Amino acid sequence: MTKDFDEGIFLNHLAPTTPWPFKIPIERAEGIYLYTPDGKRYVDLISGISVSNIGHRHPEVIDAIKQQLDKHLHVMVYGEFIQAPSNLLADKLTGLLPPSLNCVFLVNSGTEANEGALKLAKRVTGRSGLVSFHGSYHGSTHGSMSVSGNETKKAPFRPLLPDVNFIHLNDFANLGTITTKTAGVILETIQGDAGVRIPSKAYLTALRKRCDETGALLILDEIQCGMGRTGTLFAFEQFGIVPDILTVAKAFGGGLPIGAFISSRDRMKQLSHSPILGHITTFGGNPVCCASALSTLEVLTCGNLLSDVNRKGKLIEDLLVHPKIHEIRRAGLMFAIDFDSEERVHRIVSDALDNGVICFWFLSHPNSFRIAPPLTINDDEIRDACQVILKAIEKS
Ligand SMILES: Cc1ncc(COP(=O)(O)O)c(C=O)c1O
Repeated sequence: MTKDFDEGIFLNHLAPTTPWPFKIPIERAEGIYLYTPDGKRYVDLISGISVSNIGHRHPEVIDAIKQQLDKHLHVMVYGEFIQAPSNLLADKLTGLLPPSLNCVFLVNSGTEANEGALKLAKRVTGRSGLVSFHGSYHGSTHGSMSVSGNETKKAPFRPLLPDVNFIHLNDFANLGTITTKTAGVILETIQGDAGVRIPSKAYLTALRKRCDETGALLILDEIQCGMGRTGTLFAFEQFGIVPDILTVAKAFGGGLPIGAFISSRDRMKQLSHSPILGHITTFGGNPVCCASALSTLEVLTCGNLLSDVNRKGKLIEDLLVHPKIHEIRRAGLMFAIDFDSEERVHRIVSDALDNGVICFWFLSHPNSFRIAPPLTINDDEIRDACQVILKAIEKS
């Protein structure tokens, strides 16, 4: 018997993250669909947690990856050699951003992008204080975890970074916590794992102003809400503010692992002296990942994919009407759907799964499940998936 999808190997020899993994064997994926070896098809309504924004195995991305595979894989640690994929990616990405975000540090994941951003804020300001938000999730390494809000998840790993204060989103009174001792303020432009929490424009304007007054650097984490998820390439574009540092990952790589923190050249060059090599990475800017990311950016920014995100989001919102739903929070195609209990959410998610639609929970908001489909999903696919979810809600 082939070992490819052996459950025993999966359970005994791959480290677990929960006692109850989905355990679906996946043989291949295409567009919005995942396929098991025995031919069962699932709709990936969560994009592998906000990664497959242009669908699985987009043909242009696969082509770009294959072309790079025939040239070279890793040749040198980040920052030494000039390589076409990272050059072209940095050129494309900075061309899509405001002029003050003109320098990209390529890393391998979201948490690593945030680690770099936090270090950059400390290095540039010469301060140590960090301010973050209740409910936030910025990653699982020590620094990112230190600025993440979920105390239950953090407690066993203390001590973490000192000098981190948490404030509430949209609460103007808390802005005084940001002072001239604050190196950086880190915020998901749209909070993901808090259950899709959206700041008001007035709040983000005031936050930007407070950072300017105190000299604290504003770090916007768009690892989950960026790359077109909310209808613009980056969510901050909808709020009339520009961060000092932007972090991206997840959908940035089109299915391969890559992240980045992005800031001004002036700030970024401080990581190259006193000490030199103040922030380094072996695989950051991996050529195959960069080729995939560049192609993903090209797909995202040509045609009407982004301008159609809100219409598709509204269609899902209009279809998902049921008395058991307490609230829907939505930004583009990023949804949290609230119910009266965690148990009901589990019943709905597992019934939808049995019927071929993958939804998922949030890290810090148990009464909700998430929907974040590939932006490429079409109207018929939306209608079919919503039917399955409505039936699951009815049965729950
Ligand atoms: C907003 C946000 N920041 C950071 C991360 C961490 O990214 P990664 O899992 O690539 O380290 C995540 C992952 O879910 C995220 O949603």
